[in-house]
This record gives sequence, C-alpha cells and structure tokens, in this order.
Amino acid sequence: MRPLIAGNWKMNGDWRSARDLAEALRAAAPGLDAALLVCPPFLHVQPVAAALLGSPVAVGGQDCHARNSGAHTGDIAAPMLRDAGATHVILGHSERRADHAESSAQVRAKTEAALAAGLTPVVCVGETEAERLAGEHEAVVGRQLEESLPLGFITSGGIVAYEPVWAIGTGRTPTEDDIAAMHRFMRHALVNSWGPTAQITRLLYGGSVKPSNAAAILALPDVDGALVGGASLVAADFLAIARAVPQE
Ligand code: PGA
Repeated sequence: MRPLIAGNWKMNGDWRSARDLAEALRAAAPGLDAALLVCPPFLHVQPVAAALLGSPVAVGGQDCHARNSGAHTGDIAAPMLRDAGATHVILGHSERRADHAESSAQVRAKTEAALAAGLTPVVCVGETEAERLAGEHEAVVGRQLEESLPLGFITSGGIVAYEPVWAIGTGRTPTEDDIAAMHRFMRHALVNSWGPTAQITRLLYGGSVKPSNAAAILALPDVDGALVGGASLVAADFLAIARAVPQE
C-alpha cells in the first residue's frame, strides 16, 4: 500500500491560505509516490474538497460527532463531512482528548459514526511524557487501541496514528528505535485483537515530522506514513515530507 502523508491543519489559516495550499498540492500530487490527505478546519472542508475535486489529494475532517443529527450546538456530524466532500476524519487527536476531555469510549462512538457514514477514520493514540518516563507508554497505547477501535474498523481500512503527546508541536521526536518499537507493538496488538487483516492496517507516525526527519522516520518498519501538523501548513515542507517516502 502507498504510504499516506496526512496534513492536520488544526485551527489555522483563512480561506485564502487554504485555497493556496490546496492548489499547490493539487499541482504536485500526480508526481508523488505517497498518497496525500489534508484535514482543514470544518469551515474549509467543503471549499478545499471542491478545489481538489478530481485530484488524488483526499480531504478529511478533524473530528465528528457520534450522532448523525440533533441538538448538538457547534458540532458536526459524520454524514455532513461526507456530504461536504470529505473521505476521511481524524478522531481522538490528543488535543481533542485534552481540550474536550474526550474518552476512548467517545472516540470509539465517533469512529463508529464515521464508518457508518462511509468515512475512513484516522484514530490517534499516544502517551504523555510522564507516561513515557514511567515506562507505561505501551500499556497506555495498548489500552487506547483496545478502547477506541470499534468492530469493523480494521476491515473497513481504518488508519491508526501514533502521536506521542510530548512530540506534538514541540520539535521533539522519539528516537527511531522508540518509534519502530511502538509501531511493532501496535502491529502485534492489532493482529492479536483483530486477526491477520491488521497486517495491512496503515500505521502513521505523528509528532514534529518535518522535511529534515521525514526520510528516517518513514523508512522504519511498520511506519506506513505520517500525520503532520505544523509542517503541513507550508506546501513546500509538506511536499518535501511526501517526497521522503521510501521508494518501492
Ligand atoms: P506537529 O503536529 O506535526 O505540529 O507536531 C502533529 C499532529 O498533532 O498531528
């Protein structure tokens, strides 16, 4: 499977910057070995999807509600994202788990809604620095995987992103050995729980991925792509990361 380079634009930019980014990616995407996904803020999902229509760049949301409609002021439902042209949705990002106290049970309910709407979920897991220092990182991530992934996730092509909380937006990353060890652990955990289909589940690494470290990270076993925050806002940097995927 082609590696996936996913951009999480978070709460950044305006319509002009979103359009400029989309146009730069649209122009470059056909020449790339990597598959590309961009996840703009909700307001920009529809215009970015329209700007990318017919291009190989996929568009996703950064969250969705667990219900399809109803009295949930300020929330967005999975079918709305689909209707706006999204094919993917990031769920359980550590910023949502922290800022909105999202539990893994809620992440699982949202992931079920995403699957039911025909979206490919990108479910994020990852330990805090204190958990890493205490040697609890595998236990924490194992529990998040167990509690966040619903039935049908693996067979529907759901994607998992390992994002150590302390590496997000900090410029710090785990060592290559630590990333490889966690991805091996996640692969085993998923295959144990869900069977051999999980051998081909895409496992992304996220947290301070940039052009200078992308090639080394993307070459690691069981790293099937990257979830990129800050560097995804600069087309040249995001494309440099996409060009760093290992050659088949
Ligand atoms: P970062 O963010 O690349 O800015 O560290 C990654 C993420 O939060 O997905």
